[in-house]
Amino acid sequence: MSLKDQFGKDILLTGWGHSKFGKLTDDTLESLIVQVTGEAINNSGLDPKDIDEIYLGQFNSGMQPLGFTSSLALQLSADLANVPATRTENACASGSAAFQQGVKAVLAGTARNVLVIGAEKMTDAGADVVGAALLGASYEMAGKASSTGFTGLFAEVAKHYDKRYGVKIAGESLGDVLGSIAAKNHHNGMDNPYAQMHRDFGVEFCRTISDKNPMVAEPLRRTDCSPVSDGAAAVVLSTSATGGTTAPVRLAGFGHANDFFPAEKRDPTEFAATRASWERAFAMAGVGIEGLDFAEVHDCFTIAELIMYEAMGLAPRGEGSRAVQEGWVYKDGKLPINVSGGLKAKGHPVGATGVSQHVIAAMQLTGTAGDMQLPNARRGAVQNMGGVGIANYVSVLEAV
Ligand code: COA
Repeated sequence: MSLKDQFGKDILLTGWGHSKFGKLTDDTLESLIVQVTGEAINNSGLDPKDIDEIYLGQFNSGMQPLGFTSSLALQLSADLANVPATRTENACASGSAAFQQGVKAVLAGTARNVLVIGAEKMTDAGADVVGAALLGASYEMAGKASSTGFTGLFAEVAKHYDKRYGVKIAGESLGDVLGSIAAKNHHNGMDNPYAQMHRDFGVEFCRTISDKNPMVAEPLRRTDCSPVSDGAAAVVLSTSATGGTTAPVRLAGFGHANDFFPAEKRDPTEFAATRASWERAFAMAGVGIEGLDFAEVHDCFTIAELIMYEAMGLAPRGEGSRAVQEGWVYKDGKLPINVSGGLKAKGHPVGATGVSQHVIAAMQLTGTAGDMQLPNARRGAVQNMGGVGIANYVSVLEAV
């Protein structure tokens, strides 16, 4: 069943914009938002006056002094005066939270054309401020001192996973598998012009602790972590084609699930609410994982991508490493994962990430992904996560 069958109307992505990701010293949060707003509206074929509502995903949590950013997109044009604009916050899934609020506004019929933006400017703040801001997404660690930051929380996930499942391939450790995921995503990132890191480190470098690849929080090395980033992305959502520069992309289904916040109420190796968000999106789209040609998933740390293979149903629990070792998730595999380089190489300006994933998927589905382009990409999924498996969003998108 399509969204039209279920809700009486289609949701189309009719235009999109994407800034470079990285340490963008010449940009401000405002300039990034205005840049992608202009690109997305222009590419949709609409005028600013046609935008009925704006949602901006941004985490902030103290990384920027300006705590009230919903109106920044209006700086693009006087024709955006009086447009309702709201900021959404759901930690590193703030961008997808904005996306799904935009979808619901269109489905509700209160807006015909919605602009969705994700943005974050992290590198203005020092490492200690960024670390404390990110730890604001942890029930136990918010406001507490930590030398390992959010990496320490995912390192605990990796330790639990290793203890419970290990890796069932002779001669391979969990660290080896995580190193292979890092190397895959860094390799893929070489083809992404928006990516922060264009460094094809290779498997051996990513698997090995060295001066250039130190342990951050055992067992996660530097190459197992997404970087600290600035960037923004935007999409326009409409109910019908708007004469854009590329064909639109259809939203086939979406899912959202939040888990309990205290760690004691969750199995650290499962990401149960992440799984629920996948199941909801697949059910709404009327497809399963075998119906996907690719996926962009939330690899904030390599262990998150490994568990994602299991949460999305690609591999049974405890067997996610098979997806790497048997080549399923590489660009030429049966389900390419993070062809963009993922958060690992593309960068992770936290509030921007969810919208960026939708933009990259839209490029794939319209044959406009340049060097990232996959052959015959007709349907793909994006998955974005806030906290340690807490706020989870999945979209299934398809070519029109
Ligand atoms: N992966 C690979 N290389 C990285 C990197 C990363 N994540 N982060 C930085 N580098 C490289 C830099 O390019 C630089 O290379 P160079 O010396 O050849 O120029 C070098 O490592 C040192 O950079 P620096 O910024 O000083 O690194 P750092 O040690 O201060 O920070 C991390 C590295 C991994 C600690 C930091 O990126 C981090 O905290 N990431 C996690 C962010 C996070 O928690 N996000 C939220 C997720 S939910």
